[in-house]
Amino acid sequence: MLKLAPSLLAADFSRLHEDIKVIEESGAHYLHLDVMDGMFVPSISFGTPVISRLRSCTDLKFDVHMMVEEPGRFVQDYAEAGADLITVHAEACRHLDRTVRQIRRLGIKVGVALNPATSLSALDYILNEVDMILLMSVNPGFGGQKYIPYVTEKIKILRSCLNERGLSADIQVDGGVSLENAEEIVRAGATVLVAGSAVFKGDIRENTRAFIKLLEECEPWK
Ligand code: DX5
Ligand code: ZN
Repeated sequence: MLKLAPSLLAADFSRLHEDIKVIEESGAHYLHLDVMDGMFVPSISFGTPVISRLRSCTDLKFDVHMMVEEPGRFVQDYAEAGADLITVHAEACRHLDRTVRQIRRLGIKVGVALNPATSLSALDYILNEVDMILLMSVNPGFGGQKYIPYVTEKIKILRSCLNERGLSADIQVDGGVSLENAEEIVRAGATVLVAGSAVFKGDIRENTRAFIKLLEECEPWK
């Protein structure tokens, strides 16, 4: 099933509760929460106090994207704050296997993210251990950037690699996803679309519904 994960980073932080309700009522599947540490990426966003407070506002699954150096230091805190899925960057983990196992032991889903220019070969030995692979389609750190076109080819290669191995992990694509390019991204093999500006700028209800309709109508990649 194709899923939509609106990214809270693009929301109006003075009315998070209301806007989360709107995306939930309009059919979004996940709430994508971008945690940034000012080290792995140039900006700082929010952390566990915000996430645990939001946990009681919604039943949406919390998809926590950690753009943090050595995220293993914090994964337990984020699981306790309410994360249903934690994604860590391969580039940020000195011991990726250990961090993936650490998340797994917390009883939640685990994802591994790659920056646009990081080779898929970084996933070779960890692919069987993860529920989701996040392919960044912008350089992480900011919302509102343009989709990098070469990532579409990367999605296709990863999807065939998963198929060859008989794996059904989700491929999440994050950055510059819009109603204009969503279909191309899904056809390439993505199953979870993150959208920040394309959901939260303008009419949130209308935008979310338009994405959901598009995902429902898209031919599944298989
Ligand atoms: C970027 C974040 C994204 C971001 C996407 O570092 O990981 O989740 O919020 O925003 P848009 O959809 O506006 O590119
Ligand atoms: Zn993200």
